Amino acid sequence: MSLFQLSPHQLVDKKGKEKIVGITAYDYISARLAEETGVDFILIGDSASMVMLGHPDTFPITMDEILLFCKAVSRGAEKTLRIGDMPFLSYQVSKEQAIYNAGLFIKEGRCHGVKIEGGLEVVPIVEAIVRAGIPVMGHIGVTPQRSMEIGGLKVRGKNLEIAKDILDSALALEKAGVFAIVLECIPSELSEYITEKVKIPTIGIGAGPKTDGQILVFHDVVGLFPNIRPKFVKSYINGYELFRDALSSYVKDVKEKNFPNREHSFTVSQEIIEELRKIYD
Ligand code: KIV
Repeated sequence: MSLFQLSPHQLVDKKGKEKIVGITAYDYISARLAEETGVDFILIGDSASMVMLGHPDTFPITMDEILLFCKAVSRGAEKTLRIGDMPFLSYQVSKEQAIYNAGLFIKEGRCHGVKIEGGLEVVPIVEAIVRAGIPVMGHIGVTPQRSMEIGGLKVRGKNLEIAKDILDSALALEKAGVFAIVLECIPSELSEYITEKVKIPTIGIGAGPKTDGQILVFHDVVGLFPNIRPKFVKSYINGYELFRDALSSYVKDVKEKNFPNREHSFTVSQEIIEELRKIYD
């Protein structure tokens, strides 16, 4: 029996046969929920920088922080394909450092592969990591780690020059050995064309319905992150409001002495209390 339900290469086999579903997770419970609902893979995304650590963007998260999230997710979703997202500056400095850090996702984070943001410029790094035996998922289109260079997080690929750059990047990453590519925030027609041109699965987020699969951030799906609500997100519940209402009810119950009641309490016989009174009163 394989150690996990799907290997990166089995994910490739799903292209053209069934839609692939990915979700991010960062802790034991979100990972457990993801596994119970049968997602094809979990990404321990650097979006943890925002949704778990409260930073305004993905730049600050460190290797140590993301590895902690990976370890928790591995315990919660032992049987699911798990991909670790390489943080800003963990793969850009040198190929050696990139291989080393990618290796930590496998060795310590118990992941089955890593994701790297970037197009043509990261191809040599991707090749080096793949040569080291570590599966790599690409990520092009809007790449938050390059938001300063690409001018923010706005949809990309609406003009020929950028559309061509995104397509060239997809082709080059496929050649470099990535097993799948995330297409973030690009026009549907472009993601459809890229999906047609590559043999590996495309995983869309804000890239329309024609990609081989979709990924969303856990906190967005359950409506737990009120700070930003991009157009491409679908929240199935308003988790933030539900959780706040539950917490408010708890606070109210304690203040008004409605909690705990007998149902939530342990009891001991009155004789024991009497005995204690004799000793201490
Ligand atoms: O970090 C993340 O959550 C991601 C997804 C948006 C693909 O990279």
